[in-house]
Amino acid sequence: MSSSFRAREVCDKVYAVGAIDWELAEFHGYHTPHGTTYNAYLILADKITLIDTVKAKYTDELLARISSVIHPSRIDYIVSNHSELDHSGALPKIIEAVQPEAVYASPKGVQALERHFHDDLKLNAVKDGDKLSLGNMELTFQLTSMVHWPDSMFSFLDHGKVLFSNDAFGMHVASSKLWADEHDPGHVAAELKNYYANILWLTSRAVQKVFKGMDKAEIEPSIILPDHGPGWRNNLEKPLGLYKDWSEGKKDPNKAVILFDTMWGSTALMARVIADGLIEGGMDVQVLPLAKTERAKVALECLDASLLIVGSPTLNGGLFPTIADVLTYISGLNPGKPRIKGAVFGSYGWSGSVYKKLVAQLDDMGVDVIDDPQTTQYVPNSDDLDGIREYALNLVKQMRENG
Ligand code: FEO
Repeated sequence: MSSSFRAREVCDKVYAVGAIDWELAEFHGYHTPHGTTYNAYLILADKITLIDTVKAKYTDELLARISSVIHPSRIDYIVSNHSELDHSGALPKIIEAVQPEAVYASPKGVQALERHFHDDLKLNAVKDGDKLSLGNMELTFQLTSMVHWPDSMFSFLDHGKVLFSNDAFGMHVASSKLWADEHDPGHVAAELKNYYANILWLTSRAVQKVFKGMDKAEIEPSIILPDHGPGWRNNLEKPLGLYKDWSEGKKDPNKAVILFDTMWGSTALMARVIADGLIEGGMDVQVLPLAKTERAKVALECLDASLLIVGSPTLNGGLFPTIADVLTYISGLNPGKPRIKGAVFGSYGWSGSVYKKLVAQLDDMGVDVIDDPQTTQYVPNSDDLDGIREYALNLVKQMRENG
């Protein structure tokens, strides 16, 4: 077995044995400029237990890290908290190498792993609240369906009160630092939010259920070890509180997002004037030109915005393709729970009929468009721009009046 990779002790009797993916740039349609980690954890209890594995390409690295602590054949149990391949890709080969006494997953995890690997992995299904004795320690399983997939679950270790939370509380950040508190706090908060917006926003109701489940099972962690990015060992109120706020749909009443694209500069000019009007009205504005803004950034900024303003030029009588693309992506994240306010604008050439359709599309997404579309044929003149500024000030007024 290669000794090129070593495990790192995370906390008492728990070792990080996963992989750092410095190269990852894209994770199901979500831009990941900071890479990620696929965390797996080895618990040195009487019954030695491995929590999760890694992407298949890092199988040998996982085995090498385990081997730096114990011979892999000494592992008694493997727990698969989630069947998605970034955590289970190495599972069949690890089972083959380890020959564990038992492998545990949620009931849906058992089904999903069978559907992925089409092999009899001799998996054992655990129910919500089931406990597994590790001899001198104990694991409690909490089913966390839809955080992120139907099969997702948490495992809670009584020794040190360590919550292995899989995707939850994670972030796509590759780093040599094991703990969130070793990072710049702003970077960590932004990446936690980025991950939530792009991976878990859609399943916010399930996140809320997880909190209820933790209360019911009296799971009060001192340490949270997710499967992506750094762990949390103090000030847990921060990630827990942010997840509560986001899952409950808490918005910043003062925050507006303007997303737009432009063909010959007219829609861009309108966006600038609208932004200026909103700023004069006292709003915090994020302007996102889609020519240089990743979809993931749009999701991140929309997560807590109260006002979403969409500007598109017309192309062949329809929406500009980048606008259609980002709306498809955002609508998949279920942004309109609770419903937010919105507006529509743009420059057209031959016909402005697309803006009515855009209003309907936003309505379907849970965005109430609170004024008529603000449109200009070809290039706005100074009177048009004055009108656009008034339009923006009126949006602020309506936001204030309607709370
Ligand atoms: Fe990190 Fe849903 O997998």
